[in-house]
Amino acid sequence: MKNAALITGATSGLGLAYANEYGKKGYNLIITGRREDKIRTNAVYIENTYHIKVKTVIVDLAYEEGLNILLNEIRDDEIEVLINNAGFGLKPVFTEVSKEDMNGIMFLQMNTVVILTQHILKQMMVRNRGTIINISSDGAFAVMPRNILYSSTKLFILNFTEGLYMELIDTAIQVQVVCPGFIDSDFHESAGMNVVKKKKGFMKFMDPEEIVNLAMRDLKKGRVVSVPGLDAKIIRFISVFLPRRMFYNIIINFTRKRNKKLNR
Ligand SMILES: NC(=O)c1ccc[n+]([C@@H]2O[C@H](COP(=O)([O-])OP(=O)(O)OC[C@H]3O[C@@H](n4cnc5c(N)ncnc54)[C@H](OP(=O)(O)O)[C@@H]3O)[C@@H](O)[C@H]2O)c1
Repeated sequence: MKNAALITGATSGLGLAYANEYGKKGYNLIITGRREDKIRTNAVYIENTYHIKVKTVIVDLAYEEGLNILLNEIRDDEIEVLINNAGFGLKPVFTEVSKEDMNGIMFLQMNTVVILTQHILKQMMVRNRGTIINISSDGAFAVMPRNILYSSTKLFILNFTEGLYMELIDTAIQVQVVCPGFIDSDFHESAGMNVVKKKKGFMKFMDPEEIVNLAMRDLKKGRVVSVPGLDAKIIRFISVFLPRRMFYNIIINFTRKRNKKLNR
């Protein structure tokens, strides 16, 4: 496939919004996910709406076997845009996270991102063009109890992308990391988290399409770290500028209040 955008995790939420965005721009798409019926339905809709080709790869990218299947599927494709979006969250405290979930979240949100990026970047370097967008989170700035592994892997993605940006400074390849706050997607349901999505005010849920619009605007401006929405910007500000002890106290108080509300 030529002129392709590869988006991992385009079954729902942000990945699906990116698929529509790049489909609208006329790119052929390679989209991945595990929920087969849902992603195939998305593929048909996108093909019919934007008159482009869509290749669907059903894989679990939290395992090496799944990643290898994807690498094999894309071996003849000319990928112009890579969006490392697939991700999931975990609810339990660290000591209660299963070994499988622990390995899975680290593999998906670190190994898969790194291996896929290197594989595709090597081709982009030959053509000296391309775009790589890595999806991190405002959790990369502010680690919280019951969110430790998620935040840590998202911090890895942030650091990895900023490093890549500097290494690629003399090329025409563009790199961006997106660090959103809460998104109205399937994320929290998939992790069995209890959330109120209709809540307004600070830390409200944003639509995936709104996040993509803001991130694409930042991409156009050449902004390497995109923090879409005021709430995520405030989280970043607090975590960077507050003394650490004050930061811990705010997060601990917030978590205690939230847990009391959720009875955990
Ligand atoms: N929701 C939020 O509040 C929020 C905030 C900041 C950042 N993010 C990040 O945004 C990205 C997209 O999440 P979202 O909010 O759009 O949630 P979502 O609707 O649950 O989408 C997540 C996507 O990742 C895929 N995925 C999850 N685990 C996978 C696995 N093991 N192998 C392959 N694909 C997998 C899912 O597909 P299948 O289920 O079909 O496999 C789905 O397409 C994630 O990286 C997430 O960490 C989310």
